[in-house]
Amino acid sequence: MSKSKLIVANWKANPLTSTEAKTIAKGIIKSAKKYSSVDVVMCPSALHMETVSKLQKTPAVALGAQNTYPGTVGSHTGEATIDMLKQVGVTHVIVGHSERRLMGETEQDVAVRLHTVLKNKMTPIMCIGELERDKEARYLSFIHDQLIHSLGHIEKKDLAKVVIAYEPVWAIGASDSDAMKGSDMYEMVIFIQRIINDAYGADVVKKVKILYGGSVSPINAGDIMENGHVDGLLIGRQSLHSENFGKIIEIASKVQ
Ligand code: PGA
Repeated sequence: MSKSKLIVANWKANPLTSTEAKTIAKGIIKSAKKYSSVDVVMCPSALHMETVSKLQKTPAVALGAQNTYPGTVGSHTGEATIDMLKQVGVTHVIVGHSERRLMGETEQDVAVRLHTVLKNKMTPIMCIGELERDKEARYLSFIHDQLIHSLGHIEKKDLAKVVIAYEPVWAIGASDSDAMKGSDMYEMVIFIQRIINDAYGADVVKKVKILYGGSVSPINAGDIMENGHVDGLLIGRQSLHSENFGKIIEIASKVQ
């Protein structure tokens, strides 16, 4: 049985007002209802979380956070804890986004967050990706180590609950044509599956969802999903345009 497709909206520190957040979210919810075979997760900033969560009684779109503090409520200035997120209905949490890693989050920090999310019976969407590619293909061993270290000492039974989002940093925030081609992404999917196979065994490989992220748009989404054989997409800028995001959901609904 093939896995259902997963499309994730990462709003980052957007939009400016809660009125705009409501408009975008309503558009996304409408598309998600229309193409219900696709799983959609919307990750607003912590500030818009409650506004967005109140828009749906029975969620057609799951609520995701862009990060979490890996502890309980208390003296953690500037943080949103996992129990606070749970309280407003968050079910998915992005961990280790490259923009957070560049701010200093280490692989160990990412692993701690990943385990906190799993312990709270939520779904971690763990991002990995190299900063740049080199001719000698050293980026492949970088990806290998980043993936293994960010998973920490995860138990095999928990691995199937993790969503891996491969986002090459050089493709994030670029143009449509700078996104990875589907055929190149397929090579990366195979590479990631081989790492999982070698470290955890063949039986879990097909259970782990692998997403692509980095300048996804309605123009390239079909190629990446179809020829990249990914289970879904992690989308930044285009998730703020609910019409375009809706088109991407529609495209995902047609991919086998
Ligand atoms: P982008 O961002 O779609 O705007 O390139 C993707 C991401 O950083 O998750």
